[in-house]
Amino acid sequence: MLPPFRLAGTASVRYARCMPLLLGVNIDHIATLRQARYARTPDASTAEPSPLVAAFDALEGGADSLTIHVRGDRRHMQDADAFRIRAEVPLPLNFEMGVTAEMIAIALKLKPDYACLVPESREELTTEGGLDVAGRFAQVHSAVTQLQDAGIRVSLFIDPELPQVEAAARSGARMIELHTGGFANAADDAQDLEIARLAAAARNGMSAGLQVNAGHGINYTNLTRLWAVPYLTELNIGHSIVARALRVGLSQAVRDIKQLMSSYPAAR
Ligand code: PXP
Repeated sequence: MLPPFRLAGTASVRYARCMPLLLGVNIDHIATLRQARYARTPDASTAEPSPLVAAFDALEGGADSLTIHVRGDRRHMQDADAFRIRAEVPLPLNFEMGVTAEMIAIALKLKPDYACLVPESREELTTEGGLDVAGRFAQVHSAVTQLQDAGIRVSLFIDPELPQVEAAARSGARMIELHTGGFANAADDAQDLEIARLAAAARNGMSAGLQVNAGHGINYTNLTRLWAVPYLTELNIGHSIVARALRVGLSQAVRDIKQLMSSYPAAR
């Protein structure tokens, strides 16, 4: 049993989290594979694998939500994928998006349950760093306002740093997603340091009234090290689930990670 988490400047404070840790399954990698062969005809009935089928498989495996990212360069998910999944799959949809007028317009039409604002550059292999909310405050604040006014709850994907958490809270966003890439890529002592950064950011986020999620680079092996990070509501996981799906199928891969996630320390 882990000791109760402590908030800076308080006596032993037990955190109250009544819900199980939720899983958002990122299925972009299914579209990446499809595009490798069918970039010119992603809508053809022969184009495989299908993100829509993957979404239903994730549902069957116990996913709590789906995450899809329509990038400006459309390298994996296409607009049609997003609208089809939104229309047909009875799971909350998290629309990951760059902070651009084009993506805001798509989100306002798509009306996902959530939107997660991420940085985006053409060269990166995947989302490589957190959104600089503090540095791009006016632009992010405007996007948050437009989306939340339309009933879409906004999350900001940020590095675990206090100025970013504070800026996220000021922007009016309801949630943050802490970037766990630094943690996933670190070894030994450096990983302890990353955990400490994530835990501090989670405490700051919770104190600011934000829902705290996390994602990027989480897998079946490193997952439980995150149990030292308090106040987590949801993890967004893609690559490791899709990789495991090659061996056991997507539904089972989702079931397996959900099983591991059930040991996140419960409200005490
Ligand atoms: N969260 C965000 C904001 C992402 O951009 C991604 C995909 O890069 C993920 C979570 C999932 O990361 P991974 O595929 O490494 O599990």
